[in-house]
Order: sequence, then C-alpha cells, then structure tokens
Amino acid sequence: MVLERNIERTLDILRSNKGYISGQDISEKLSISRTTVWKYINLLKDRGYRIDSVTNKGYKLVSSPDRLDYNELGVYLNTSYIGRKVIYYDSIESTNKEGKKIAVKSDEGLVIIGEEQTQGRGRMGRGWVSPKGKGVWMTLVLKPKINPLDSRKISLIASAAVVKAMENLGIEGQLKWPNDILINRKKIAGILTEINCEIDLVNYILVGIGINVNLDKEDFPKDLQEKASSIKIELGKKISRQKLVANILNEFEVLYDEFIEENNIKKSIEINREKLVFLGENIRVIENGKEKISRAKALDDNGLLVIENQDQSIEKLFSGEISIRGIKGYI
Ligand code: BTN
Repeated sequence: MVLERNIERTLDILRSNKGYISGQDISEKLSISRTTVWKYINLLKDRGYRIDSVTNKGYKLVSSPDRLDYNELGVYLNTSYIGRKVIYYDSIESTNKEGKKIAVKSDEGLVIIGEEQTQGRGRMGRGWVSPKGKGVWMTLVLKPKINPLDSRKISLIASAAVVKAMENLGIEGQLKWPNDILINRKKIAGILTEINCEIDLVNYILVGIGINVNLDKEDFPKDLQEKASSIKIELGKKISRQKLVANILNEFEVLYDEFIEENNIKKSIEINREKLVFLGENIRVIENGKEKISRAKALDDNGLLVIENQDQSIEKLFSGEISIRGIKGYI
C-alpha cells in the first residue's frame, strides 16, 4: 500500500515537471532516500513508463504506457465518485464476474478493469472476445436506491455515456436498441447490465461495458469477422483507450446524477434518440427464437422501443430477451 502510494506520488511529481527534476528534489519532496527514488523510477520503467535519466539533470517522464489503471485514467477524470476507485487486472476471467464477488462490500462508483478477459461474457449467454490491451473491458458498480423495475434505465444511461464519450473524441457512433453501439452499422461495443436485488430493493447493479477499441480483424474469430468490428478498423486509426474510458465515466456521472437526483433520464433519452439506428425502417424483432418484421417508430420517454407491426398494431418493446436486427445482414 505505502509502496504503491509512493510510486504514485513519484509519478505525480514527474508529470508535473515539464523538464528534468533531480533525484534529490524528488527525495526531498517525498522524504525518502535517493536510492529509494531510483528504485521507484525503475519500478515505473518496468510498468512501461519511459523515463529519461541524465547525470546532473535528473529524471524526465517521456511517455506513459497504454494501461487502464487509475494512475493513467485519473489524469482525465473530472468525476466526484464514479471511477475514483479502480481495481485493475492485467488479466481476469470477467470483470462482471469479479463484480459479483466484491460488489456487496464495495462503494458506489467502483470500476473494475481488465486488460484482457479470458471468459468475457455478452448478453444472452454469449461470450465476449476481449484480447489484451486492445479494448475496454470494464464493470461499474452502482448502488442506487431505486425500484428494481427502474434498473433498466441504467443501461440507457450507460449507452448514452458511451456514445457521448465517443463523440467527445470525434467518433460518430450509433445505438442499436437496447444496448449495442455501432459504427457504420457494425457492432463495436456492448453493455451487459446485471442486477442483484430484492423485491423492492436494489443491492447492486453491475454495468459491464465492452468496447472493441484497437482490435484488428484477426483478433475476432472467423465467425464474428463479418458481424463485429472495432473503432480502429472503422476509423483506420488507433484511439486512446485512457481518454475513452475517462470520458465515459465523466459522462456517466452527469447522466446518472440526473437520474438519481431528479428521477428522470431526459438527457440520456435525448442522446439515445439522436443516435438510434433503424428509426423509420423495417426491422426483424426476435423474441424467444421467434422472428417478425415490424417498423421501428420511436423511443418513448422511458426508453422503450415503439414498433408498428404488420397488422398496424403498435407495441412497445421492453429490452429483456428481445433483440432487433435490420432487414439485411446481422446488424
Ligand atoms: C453484449 O453482448 O453486447 C454485451 C457485452 C458486454 C461485455 C462486457 S466487457 C466487460 C464486462 N465483463 C464481461 O464479462 N462482460 C462485460
């Protein structure tokens, strides 16, 4: 704990100095010996920080690693509680699975992040490809005092936060109701919201967010290569995972606070509406293996998808086990 804190403080000092800072200055600031400073610098180098050391000048931070730990994310965060505690894994089975083990004892806003997931899980019992260092695989722990029936709204907030964060970074995403994020009509991200509740009380909600950021085509198994994509594949360039995660958490806190404090999700609905694909188009609605063709009409104020069936009846879809697809292709 003390070691980690001191490494963090050494890093903060390096970050706040544009030029070189001497080992002596760092040792005085932290009240530690110069040998200990040298040890911390080496530990930081082992973690992928490039630090230049020049005799008589000292140390200078040249670049930081592409890691999603708090040291890196914290720089871009402007939240008060979302993401202010991050549990970081180099490798983990599934961040949602981990969330279930620790949520009860955790504070609201905790984020669990893995550089890779070995058993990533998607909606409807599917798997989720999560190769190392190429995507965002994270779970947000929430403890809202809401009626469990309203927990569905958290998914809408999460989708809105993800597309808004992408927009902040100049990436134009679309939403496929209820929770898929697309670019050029290819799925690049998904959200798996899981709830633990009693009849009228939420114990915790886990918002699992998976984003294919810098994956290459070969990272997807053959059968997924036509259906799934990544931001890098669609935009033709790499994106900063750190900025993306921090932006999502920043946007999420604003939208979540609106829900908790004002009991409405107007902003989230607005974003969802603006980014929704298929509006006005015919879609395939799939429920319990049965499929029908309907027209996507609107998103109502509660986030239910309003569709018009072929017999002209109007229906509102509640997310649950329903999925929708375009007429052509998988998405
Ligand atoms: C979907 O099927 O669209 C939802 C995918 C959700 C994947 C994320 S990655 C982080 C979290 N941990 C998991 O095992 N799944 C979710």
